[in-house]
Amino acid sequence: MDAVRFLLNGEVVEARSVDPTRTLLEHLRGDLRRTGTKEGCAEGDCGSCTVLVGELDGQGGTAWRAVNSCIQFVPMVDGKAVITVEGLGQATPHPVQAAMVEHHGSQCGFCTPGIVMSLYGRAVAAKGGDGPIDEVLAGNLCRCTGYGPIIAAAQAITPEAAPDVADTLMDLRRDEALSLDYVDPIAGVTRRWFAPLDADELARTYEAHQDAVIVAGATDIGLWVTKLRKPLGTLIDIGRVDALKAITREDGWLRIGAGVRYVDALDTLSELYPDLGAMMRRLGSTQVRNSGTIGGNIANGSPIGDMPPALIALGAELVLRKGDARRTIPLEDFFVAYGRQDRAPGEFVEAVRVPTGLGGAMFKVFKLSKRFDQDISAVCGAFNITIVDEVVTAARVAYGGMAGTPKRAVGCEAALVGQLWNRTTIHAAVEALAGDFTPLSDARASAAYRTLTAGNMLRKVFIESARPDLETRVPEAAPHAPEAANA
Ligand SMILES: Cc1cc2nc3c(=O)[nH]c(=O)nc-3n(C[C@H](O)[C@H](O)[C@H](O)COP(=O)(O)OP(=O)(O)OC[C@H]3O[C@@H](n4cnc5c(N)ncnc54)[C@H](O)[C@@H]3O)c2cc1C
Ligand code: FES
Ligand code: FES
Repeated sequence: MDAVRFLLNGEVVEARSVDPTRTLLEHLRGDLRRTGTKEGCAEGDCGSCTVLVGELDGQGGTAWRAVNSCIQFVPMVDGKAVITVEGLGQATPHPVQAAMVEHHGSQCGFCTPGIVMSLYGRAVAAKGGDGPIDEVLAGNLCRCTGYGPIIAAAQAITPEAAPDVADTLMDLRRDEALSLDYVDPIAGVTRRWFAPLDADELARTYEAHQDAVIVAGATDIGLWVTKLRKPLGTLIDIGRVDALKAITREDGWLRIGAGVRYVDALDTLSELYPDLGAMMRRLGSTQVRNSGTIGGNIANGSPIGDMPPALIALGAELVLRKGDARRTIPLEDFFVAYGRQDRAPGEFVEAVRVPTGLGGAMFKVFKLSKRFDQDISAVCGAFNITIVDEVVTAARVAYGGMAGTPKRAVGCEAALVGQLWNRTTIHAAVEALAGDFTPLSDARASAAYRTLTAGNMLRKVFIESARPDLETRVPEAAPHAPEAANA
């Protein structure tokens, strides 16, 4: 197969000889002249490029998600449906657009198509972001209108039935892997895209192309292309492998396939570990969580990825696969050094295993970033602490942003275990953090600030356990009163 086929605003379109690293936004605007969708940042931050992507939901219907088209590659929508702002109001405005007009939700209008698509996603799609308005709009930046009128418009929009395009998507389904070859006319190199249909085929393809880059949600890789201009050769898309999208329970563990998006794991993980859910709702934006995967967050190996510290503190394991061989390692062992992970050529992340219970331990996660929503952490701390008769009997403490990798604070843990759970112990454990980490100063935070706040996170764990009556958290997005929105 050498062409990408998808449904655009109800019509099947085919892209032949397309560069597989061409973004969906570039394709929509540049090739198909659907210029309603805007480019603001080209890095997933501003949301002006938001479109809805629909795919079969496995129950005979269509599931819609709002995504940032600036960091999706064209082949990622093969066999799927896309709705852009042109697909809404034509002769007359769609109710979402009408609400934005009525409530004066637009001034210069640059962000407006993206905001309309996010609000439309909220109106039609459970997975597209039916959450609190603030949460749905956290990935849509408006610099001139102000959010009051936009929120008032959002409040006026009533839910509507999602477009059901399942029959057409069934017709578009492939029974063979998508495989594209493209010769870059400037670099003179061949760029290849493989989208295997099952895990065995994925394993074989990756063994045969060990220099390939695996693509999951592309919320990191998209920026390699749009910002870093990294020349990519062969890419292997894992998005079609259903087995990697499954969440299963197995004997005290939750097995989360490497292709599971945040949005699909959020409810299950929130139920098990409410603090983890609260942190995940601040990871990226609705659009980022609708594409990005937990597996990608781990495999990316960033020292400031938010999931690794939490999962390390929980005692999670990583399942790696190369060919037919699998190995399971403690997650913390995966992160060898900055930019280096314990992953052999041709070996991919198949799943992460998370314990389904902690036997009465207390689990807390704190994410510290300059903005509350849609911002990468300066420091992320996670704490899994067991206290029996006021004595700490076990502790797993892990941080992101404090070293070249996400890392356990072994000195701090040692200072806690066997000690009374009191201020003296906390003081000693905070002091021990200085031996665990020598953080860097960068644009997000100075080394001194990181050290201070990492210790304060542990102090906060103690305060919250000793004084549960105190208000210690920034409240999560609450429903807006209409009069507040209009003020
Ligand atoms: C606007 C914005 C905000 C963000 N905010 C946050 C945030 O708050 N916190 C945070 O932690 N991150 C954040 N991110 C980063 C990103 O969203 C996450 O790291 C995400 O989880 C990456 O997953 P993905 O599926 O998109 O990975 P991709 O971009 O597809 O891949 C990332 C890396 O992992 C590799 N990879 C992916 N899957 C596998 C696999 N199965 N086996 C082997 N290698 C694999 C890829 O080759 C690549 O090297 C943000 C990104 C954007 C654009
Ligand atoms: S252009 Fe800003 S998020 Fe896509
Ligand atoms: S209306 Fe101008 S940026 Fe939102």
